[in-house]
Formats: sequence, C-alpha cells, structure tokens
Amino acid sequence: MGNLRDNPGALLCVVGARPNYMKMAPLLRAFRSRADLPPAGLVHTGQHYDPMLNDRLFEDLALPRPDINLGVGSGTHAVQTAEVMRRFEPVVDEHQPSGVVVVGDVNSTLACSLVAVKKGVPVAHVEAGLRSFDRAMPEEINRILTDQISDLLYTTERTAHANLAREGVPAERMHFAGNVMIDSLLFHRSRAVPAARTLQAARAQFGADRYGVVTLHRPSNVDEPAALRASLEILCEVSGRLPLVCALHPRTVARVEGFGFADMLRTGRIAVLPPQGYLEMLGLMADATLVLTDSGGMQEETTALSVPCLTMRENTERPITVEQGTNTLVGRDRALILRLVEEIAATGGKRGRTPELWDGRAAERIAAHLAGWLAARPMPLHA
Ligand code: UD1
Repeated sequence: MGNLRDNPGALLCVVGARPNYMKMAPLLRAFRSRADLPPAGLVHTGQHYDPMLNDRLFEDLALPRPDINLGVGSGTHAVQTAEVMRRFEPVVDEHQPSGVVVVGDVNSTLACSLVAVKKGVPVAHVEAGLRSFDRAMPEEINRILTDQISDLLYTTERTAHANLAREGVPAERMHFAGNVMIDSLLFHRSRAVPAARTLQAARAQFGADRYGVVTLHRPSNVDEPAALRASLEILCEVSGRLPLVCALHPRTVARVEGFGFADMLRTGRIAVLPPQGYLEMLGLMADATLVLTDSGGMQEETTALSVPCLTMRENTERPITVEQGTNTLVGRDRALILRLVEEIAATGGKRGRTPELWDGRAAERIAAHLAGWLAARPMPLHA
C-alpha cells in the first residue's frame, strides 16, 4: 500500500497468530481491489513469530509483508494482551485510521479492538458471534469482549446472530457474510502440495496409503500431564488401525518433552512433523481418511473438503460443522473415538454438505458492505 504515513485514514487490518492469516489474506485482497475503500495497511502484532507458524504461512497465502510489526512475542495472557495494547496505541495515534479490522479470537484480536474503540475508531470484527459457552477457553473471553465493543460484526453462520442477540448486541451491527477462511481454502486449493510429497519420509516409516492427520495444541488438551497422556494414548491406539501424521505446534512439543512423554509418540505408527505450511496442510487434509484435531479452523476446513473430522474437545463454537458438515465432537472419549475410526475406515464416515455462504466470496461481501458503511458515516471527530 506504499507508505502508511502518506495515508491518514487508512484501514488498519490486524493479524497476530497463525489462524488469523488465512482469514486476513482474502480480506486484504478484497479491500485493496476497491477504489471506494481507504488504503488498507497490515499490522502484525508479533504474537506468533516462529518461521513455521508465521513466515511460511505469509508466503503460502501471498500475504504482503506487514506495514507495521509490533514484535510482541510470547508472554502470559495479561502480559501479551497488555503489550499489544501498549504498542498498538501509538500506531492508532499516528495513523488516525478510518477503521480497524480484526479477525478471529486470539489475544491480539481483543487487544487491538480495545485500543481502537477507546480512540473512537470503528472496529469491524470478522468471524463474530461464535460461542463455545466455555469460559475456561481464553478464546471465548476474547470473542465475547471483542463482539461487545465492535461496531460491525461479520458472521460465518446464522447461529452467531442468536448468540449475539442473547448478549444484547443490536441486530444492525450484525452482517451474515460467510466464511473468509473458506475463501482462502477455495482460492488455494489447486495449489495444495500433494500429500504424497509431504509424506514421502513418513510413508517409508509406516508403509500405508491411508492416514489420519492430527493436530493438538489447546491448553485443555496439552497443558495438564493427565490430559496430554490420555490424548497420546488414544493416538497410539488409533494408529494401530490407521497410521497418523501429527503436525505439532511448538506449545505441544514443549509439553510432550517437558512431561517426558516423547517416547509415547515413538510407539505407534505415528509420524511427527513440524507445523506445516498452509499448502502442505491443505494437501494433507484433502487426502486424509480423517482428521483428529482441537483446532477451530480445521473443523471448518474439513467440512469444506468433505473429510470426516473428530474434534478432541467437549464443545465447539462452530456448531454448523457438526450439524451440516463432517465434524463430530469426541473429547477424549477413547471408546467413541476408536468406534468412529473403525466406522470411517469402513464406510468413509460423515460427508456433510457445504454451509450457506461458504462459497469463496465472503471477503468480497465484507469489503462491499464496509465501503458502504464507511461512506454513510459522518466524518469522524479526529479527521
Ligand atoms: C494462539 C491462540 C489460539 C490459536 C493458536 C494457533 C490465543 C489466546 N490463542 O494459541 O486461539 O488457536 O494461537 O496457533 O491468542 N510459541 C512459539 N512460537 C511462536 C508462538 C508461540 O514457540 O511463534 C510458543 C510459546 O512457547 C508460547 C506458546 O507457544 O508461549 C503459546 O503461544 P501463544 O501465542 O500464547 O498461544 P497459542 O497456544 O499459539
């Protein structure tokens, strides 16, 4: 977008962590393609900084280099959130944005919304209204608070509107736009790296064509030794039926090693891979017999790809993936998981259907709506 400094009144688009990138990439493309929107600048808070969680995904998604990087890094929730706020405030002061666009539910989402709203800058939250009804999840707190203070709430499924209404959010703020994560999936699908290539080494290890993909990183699954041990035991058992490919988040690697569980991952037919690029993961999921995960995004991506997903959580903020898609909530219920793995291996499992407006055009709809909304708005006080 050239130099942000030359563009007072720009739209500041915020990303912080991996699941934000696939949501922001199509939005940024859509914003920058419209002459009736202010120039869009990309702000990275630096919450995720590992090359495999960050740079690689930027490349795969063709996301431009951030105009501003706040370089926050890891910390406790309070420290991370506070640090993002402290560093984002002068950016808002300097650039006087006409709006701040946030996505998803990570700490950076809430921190930047809070800074913007207190400066009188309108906030648009993309993927609003999702609720797991589990306040022990840090993301649930981020969702509730971000939605309360945002001016524009773009939703991915209609249940979000009922959730927001229950929390007293006026209907005028809600806009059913569809799913920007699926925009990315459809846009990049033909460029996915074939699973056979990613699995060359792993196939030599367990010598089978069919496989399941595993990711686990939620605090509820990996931060307590008993929970992590139970999850790993289940994976070992499942791998007796179906070889598994585990792409491990740095948080999970640290816990597995810290609790002395590394040997458990060496017992079954389990190939452990580092976090994968977006195009590798897309290829792996598309060809998998099933996916076992606690990720939010992968529940949606498997629904769009029509691949059965067993979600190792007690709840989901994305109920449409269970009701219409290929998702089943399994928690750490060993017997249920083993039964479903058998069933999927035998019959192919749930196929589901594509939810309404998961059509690859959500970002375009959001850009068009935002342009109209900003144009109809009285000039902001700070202009
Ligand atoms: C964050 C999001 C979560 C999202 C996940 C995707 C919040 C509250 N959580 O969780 O919703 O599903 O990203 O990955 O915002 N670490 C690294 N390298 C990095 C980043 C983190 O090694 O680049 C390690 C650090 O030890 C850090 C830990 O992972 O303490 C957790 O990182 P953090 O960003 O706090 O949360 P995630 O678990 O990644």
